[in-house]
Amino acid sequence: MIGRLITLEGIDGSGKSTALPHIARRIAERQPKRKIVLTAEPTSGEVGRILRKGLKEASGDEQASPAMRMNELFLFMADHAEHLDRIVLPSLKDGAMVLSDRYADSTAAYQGVTLQGILPHPVFWIQEVFRPWNAVPDMTLLFLLDPERALKRLGSRPGKEKFERLEFLISVEENFRTIALAEPERFVLIDAAQDEETVARDAARAVLDLLAR
Ligand code: TMP
Repeated sequence: MIGRLITLEGIDGSGKSTALPHIARRIAERQPKRKIVLTAEPTSGEVGRILRKGLKEASGDEQASPAMRMNELFLFMADHAEHLDRIVLPSLKDGAMVLSDRYADSTAAYQGVTLQGILPHPVFWIQEVFRPWNAVPDMTLLFLLDPERALKRLGSRPGKEKFERLEFLISVEENFRTIALAEPERFVLIDAAQDEETVARDAARAVLDLLAR
């Protein structure tokens, strides 16, 4: 079997992490022989742990210096590099279907906002840095949800992370849409405002269509 890489993207609260196991179950029912690997960025590796700790330390983020913001970008990239070498590439070689909750598009969309005014055209700049060494997903499911609604969903979640602010998420959502528009052959847009069952069904159907091609 040929390995396949499917990534799930979207703003915080868009429901992709909830949908992921349901999508995997639906694919496993239809393709019982296929190995499915569920993974995520930030990873649980060394760099991923540093990142998650930083994300919890919300205070003072707006004052973060340009150097701190670049530091964060490079940590996300280092985590991605580890993810590729440790999980994604070996699993693809093994013929697995890799489902990743966030991937390099999150870095372009999120750090594309934090680095506005520091880098020229930050989304594009970040994409160019990834280009020579990244494994491009076969398909990216972009979960689209009105940021206000996404924040409401997150409301009851304990330990809010620093990126969970309305204006910030509106800009991230815009970046995701721009990235998707430039690569319509890779992106599938998922209406994440629907109920959980329908979202998972739509997403799984898109993946199964890809496998049938
Ligand atoms: P999570 O909530 O999906 O676990 O992601 C943690 C936060 O990290 C979320 O707010 C999105 C953010 N993030 C980035 O800013 N850049 C990245 O490259 C990734 C993977 C996540």
